[in-house]
Amino acid sequence: MLPEKIIAAAVEFVRERFAHDSSGHDWHHIERVRQMAIRLAAEEGADLYVTELAALMHDVDDWKLAPGASESDSDKTPETRAFLTSLAVPQPVIDQVCEIITRLSFKGAGVATPMHSLEGQCVQDADRLDAIGAIGVARAFAYGGAKGRPMIDDMITPEMHGSFEAYKKNKGPTVNHFYEKLLLLKDRINTQSAQRIANERHEFMQLFLQQLSAECRGIH
Ligand code: ADP
Ligand code: NI
Repeated sequence: MLPEKIIAAAVEFVRERFAHDSSGHDWHHIERVRQMAIRLAAEEGADLYVTELAALMHDVDDWKLAPGASESDSDKTPETRAFLTSLAVPQPVIDQVCEIITRLSFKGAGVATPMHSLEGQCVQDADRLDAIGAIGVARAFAYGGAKGRPMIDDMITPEMHGSFEAYKKNKGPTVNHFYEKLLLLKDRINTQSAQRIANERHEFMQLFLQQLSAECRGIH
């Protein structure tokens, strides 16, 4: 199958798969990550096809959304692999895409998530940019609501998770997620093209948190 046909099939699959998500991982998140990843890849000189395919498939096997997945499974991307195999995507491309997806996610404040390929760096940056700024604020509260988390609780302090296991078990209030992940992302950006955008979005989140804190204390 031609690359354009494979991209079209992936779009159709993912659109359907995430059509009813209300945790901030809907089709529109995938589409924003896809467009941003392509933009970064063009600026950085990465392979556009691998970047676009990985961006489209990046949340299909995500642990937060695919609860059947087990940490001990040797293949962390079974659904992506099966789908791309069904389209007869060449094996080296499948391996590249699955390698990117396996390494993509944030796994805790104290856990490194190195990404070796330039294509993977562009997809990871695009996914992280969509977790910060105004869209990041919206998505965090949507996720917290979908998972039954409280929004704010001063009695529960943020935790700097030292392992993926500890990070996954966390059930704290959504506002803590800013300190546990979202405010850390600007220092974990791979590409220069994404860094400028990350810095702006980071500043906006800080402003949001200041205002939120002031309102909660009855100051504004
Ligand atoms: P990653 O794979 O790095 O987790 P995703 O594309 O899956 O990236 O998106 C993660 C987003 O899900 C976060 O940026 C946030 O909006 C939301 N999220 C994840 N965990 C939490 C949490 N504990 N509290 C609030 N939002 C969360
Ligand atoms: Ni994502």
